[in-house]
This record gives sequence, structure tokens and C-alpha cells, in this order.
Amino acid sequence: MIKKIGVLTSGGDSPGMNAAISAVVKSAISKGIEAYVIREGYKGLINKWIEKVDTTFASDIISRGGTIIGSARFPEFKEESVRKIAVENLKEFGIEALVVIGGDGSYQGAEKLTNLGINCIGLPGTIDNDIVSSDYTIGFDTALNTVVRSIDQIRDTMQSHSRCSVVEIMGNGCGDLTLYAATATGAEVFSTKESFLTEEEICQEVKNLAKAGKRSVVVAVAEKLYDAHSLATKIEEASGYVTRATVLGHVQRGGSPTAMDRYLAVNAGIFAVEQLIEGKGGLYIGMSDNKLVARDINSTLNMPKPDKSQEYQKARKNNLSI
Ligand code: ADP
Ligand code: F6P
Repeated sequence: MIKKIGVLTSGGDSPGMNAAISAVVKSAISKGIEAYVIREGYKGLINKWIEKVDTTFASDIISRGGTIIGSARFPEFKEESVRKIAVENLKEFGIEALVVIGGDGSYQGAEKLTNLGINCIGLPGTIDNDIVSSDYTIGFDTALNTVVRSIDQIRDTMQSHSRCSVVEIMGNGCGDLTLYAATATGAEVFSTKESFLTEEEICQEVKNLAKAGKRSVVVAVAEKLYDAHSLATKIEEASGYVTRATVLGHVQRGGSPTAMDRYLAVNAGIFAVEQLIEGKGGLYIGMSDNKLVARDINSTLNMPKPDKSQEYQKARKNNLSI
């Protein structure tokens, strides 16, 4: 059986990463395996920022946002020569297996490390919910609740002044945060990469709502599609509503994880250690039909995105009826 397991967090952080780290460390130690943390993602593997930890390290972190071991984007890891240094360093510490908590970019690194002899298991840590083979990712629920709380607050003041607000939401090309938040807040107009509205179409929708006598309007848009402030100006000119813009930004990535994110993180962490003990690697843990599944990283990276067009249509119809 393996004697030493390492854990690292990579890519953009997400609420619940600490809960996953805690579960990996505790379950490894409870099975007689030494636990190591690698600080600052793959960068820490190259710089030997590797540290043995005990269960004290893992206690009382379950409710904390962010990642206490640090995360980083380290593009150099795409080079095989750099990954070979990582493997040498891990061998020097006697670490035979790794849990990598991150998004699909991090899994590519994990897959390649597995091919070099270090068994790796990926855990889905990202607010974007863009891991195709998992219904939900660790951090999505917390970020969603942050977005919903923010839109509710914006709605209060828009309602008082009979205004319109553009709210820009993260997601890195995945519209789930915007779709779920728009559904949960009744945002009248929303647009994502998957269900895109041009600026002209958005202005027209808001103009229609003004004509129909709607007192306040929320336009929820996924990031990287528009300039939120210039869109607000165009909406104001077209509709007559005084229109403001709020870019929610990194507030969406922080905060104490929700119970659902902690539940997923802890169970996925324990499951990952079980897989490594069985000698498996190159796998990714996801949530499918309410069950944890371990799938081949390669196959998950090539899976088609689930079609959510029905959900988009239903939410659009529902939110536009005033
Ligand atoms: P995420 O894991 O959240 O998708 P990134 O795409 O930024 O975030 O990836 C995180 C890190 O994973 C990168 O900074 C890099 O260190 C590593 N990585 C990404 N793509 C690859 C790849 N093709 N090969 C090896 N490592 C990769
Ligand atoms: O992947 C998580 C995420 O927050 C995306 O939603 C967003 O596009 C990106 O990271 C922001 O990255 P950074 O923190 O480097 O600005």
C-alpha cells in the first residue's frame, strides 16, 4: 500500500477547497498514510514547497473560504521537462500519489503526472461549474448564493428608484452561474455564451419591459461578453430607465462554503484517497446523478457539454412575464 499522499490546489480558488484538503489529510492519516501539502499548486512541486502535516493542520478549516495551502497558475507545467522535475522532487520526499483540486486545466497536469508514474486523482474545485462530467463542482453553490444575494440587494434599490441594472457574473465561458442566478432571482433579461443576446436584442427586451410598465429590470450577463458599463448606457438610451452596472468580480470567489459545497468536498476528498489506496490514478472525481463517480480524466476532458437549452428557454419565458 502507498505510504505517502500529497494534496495541492491549482487554478482559481473556490470555496470548499479547504474542506476537501481537510478530508484528504484526515482520511489518509486515519488509514496510516502520511499526508503532505504542496503549497501554491504545481509551482510548489518545482520549488519543493512540500510539507508533512498532521490532523491538527486539517482541523477547523472546513468552514474557511479560499485555500490555506495557496493556489497558482503555472503555465510552465505544460512543459514535460518541468513536470519531470516535479516527479523527481516528489520521489525525493517519497510521495507516490497526489490529489489535485482544481479545474480542467489542472486535470491535464494531473493526467500527465500520472503518465510519468505519480498516480493523481482530480477533485472538481471551481466556481464555474464547467467540469462537464460532474453535475456540480466544489464552490459553485457558494458562488451562486453570493451572486443571488447580490442581485437581490441590487433589486431592492432598483425597485425603489424604478431603474435597470446590468450585473456581470463570472463563469469563464460557462453560463451556469448566470443561468442559475437569473432563474433564482427572476432577472428579466440574461445572456451567456450558450444562450447569447446581442446588445440590440437586450436593449429591445428592456424597452419592451419599460413599455409594459415594469418598475425595475435586472439584466444578468456572463463575463467576457460585453462591456457592462457601455451596455448600461445603451440600455438607458433605448429604454429610458436610469441604468447602472455592477461587475460582481472576485467577491464571487470568496466566503465560507455552503453546506452543499462542504458535503461534496468532504465526500469527494475521502473518495479520492480510497481510489489512490486501490492503486488507481489518472481519474477525476465527479458528482453524477447524486452519486460520486471516478472517471478517466482523458474521457472527461473530451465529453460534450450538457445541453441546457430547455432550461434557458423556460427561464427566459418565466422571467419575462410580468
Ligand atoms: P483550472 O484548473 O481552474 O482550469 P487553469 O486552466 O489555469 O485552471 O490551469 C491551472 C494550472 O494547471 C495551470 O496554471 C498549469 O499549471 C496546469 N495546466 C493547465 N493546462 C495544462 C496542460 N495542458 N498540461 C499541463 N499542465 C496544465
Ligand atoms: O475560474 C474561476 C474564475 O473566477 C473565472 O470565473 C474567472 O474568469 C477567472 O477565474 C478569473 O481569474 P483571475 O482570478 O485570474 O482574475
